[in-house]
Amino acid sequence: MENKDNRRIKKICVIGLGYIGLPTASMLANHGYYVVGVDVDRERIRRIKNGNLNIKEPGLKTLVSGAINSGNLKVKTTPENADAYIVCVPTPVKWENNSPKCNLSYIYSAIESIKPYLRDRNLIIIESTVPPKTTERIYRYLNDGRKIYMAYCPERVLPGKILKELVENDRIIGGVNKESAELAREIYSSFVDGNIYLTDSTTAEMVKLMENTYRDVNIALANEFAKICEEINVNVWEAIDLANKHPRVNILNPGPGVGGHCISVDPWFIVEISKNAKLIRCARELNNSMPYYVCDLVFKELKRREIENPKVAIFGVAYKGNVEDTRESPGKNIIECLTSKGVSVSIYDPYVKTFEYPLESLKECVTKGDVILVITDHEDFKNFKEEEIREIYDLMRNKIVIDTRNILKHDLWRKVGFYVKLLGDGK
Ligand SMILES: NC(=O)c1ccc[n+]([C@@H]2O[C@H](COP(=O)([O-])OP(=O)(O)OC[C@H]3O[C@@H](n4cnc5c(N)ncnc54)[C@H](O)[C@@H]3O)[C@@H](O)[C@H]2O)c1
Repeated sequence: MENKDNRRIKKICVIGLGYIGLPTASMLANHGYYVVGVDVDRERIRRIKNGNLNIKEPGLKTLVSGAINSGNLKVKTTPENADAYIVCVPTPVKWENNSPKCNLSYIYSAIESIKPYLRDRNLIIIESTVPPKTTERIYRYLNDGRKIYMAYCPERVLPGKILKELVENDRIIGGVNKESAELAREIYSSFVDGNIYLTDSTTAEMVKLMENTYRDVNIALANEFAKICEEINVNVWEAIDLANKHPRVNILNPGPGVGGHCISVDPWFIVEISKNAKLIRCARELNNSMPYYVCDLVFKELKRREIENPKVAIFGVAYKGNVEDTRESPGKNIIECLTSKGVSVSIYDPYVKTFEYPLESLKECVTKGDVILVITDHEDFKNFKEEEIREIYDLMRNKIVIDTRNILKHDLWRKVGFYVKLLGDGK
């Protein structure tokens, strides 16, 4: 049994209180650390203090309020002296002369904000996803005579299951040296039930990128299969299901494109550092082409029926099922592409609260619509009952459904009278 009094680290500053930083800060506070949560966004700090979080994640509200009420978590806009600093700020991709590059500006400003507080034997952990060798570079920059420790500890939690996975997932800890990795292990072992593996920081950075790249490339393969199956009148879903009966094959699902903060972004950080990343670039480009491929399916149906002044009802703009997160959602590109061709769109997403385009109720969304385009695999869409489908049918002008996720109960929709097209069904 771990004795808290033996811990070398007692106070931790977590920089960046978003999807990753806030659960991590609260988890640490609930495991006996004194935690200062820092975010430059004043509104975010105010909301956390009021218990009015803008992150919808099961159990998070209770965890955060428990941490604050215990006195172990305080949140503010500036860092302060601590034994360890954990950096969880965004690392989006930016484009320079048509080449992808990780935007490290948030990381650099977080590092500058903690620099005045750093003392000998402090530990800095980067959790944000970064290109290989970033941690080493920051370590060299900060190690100006002070004896500091530094590690890279990637986060691999699944939105929607963050609290469960924070505890249960195995963790990789990459130290700039062995002492740093050991010290970081002390922190994570306070709440992680999974195995903890120690390595060097550059390997850990590469591991994180390889995990998401593996998924991106696999999805790209599924998407390419979908396009090919469409050409040769084969149902890709049936074909993948049968191929996956092979004991060593596991093809993922095709879809309208890859979104979110990780899988659609992280592979670019490998492309950025190596000319050898040809397959990875190609997979990224293929996945980015899917929203336009989906729009072509819509245009084909509209043209076939000579529908004038068409209206498409978009079902789902979250980047994946059962979350409210719309970052990098393929829905955005689909909406832009449809509207640029004169198609009007209405959007229904029962999970999303704010979006660049107006959101409507289910009824408003489908009224006088011609096509329902299912983009997100929300549970709510799977569970439409026959009476609900009939109501939708009565409100629509034309009765077409295009399901890019294979989640609707197609037989039921067909029974009601809809024409149902499934992405990659070869029909
Ligand atoms: N969300 C995920 O599921 C997930 C999973 C694995 C890894 N990651 C990685 O973790 C990192 C953080 O992602 P996130 O989803 O938590 O981002 P987020 O946008 O939800 O939160 C980041 C927070 O950092 C704050 N911030 C920005 N600059 C700051 C600064 N200088 N000082 C203090 N606060 C600052 C922002 O205001 C924001 O609240 C990214 O690198 C991401 O790729 C995310």
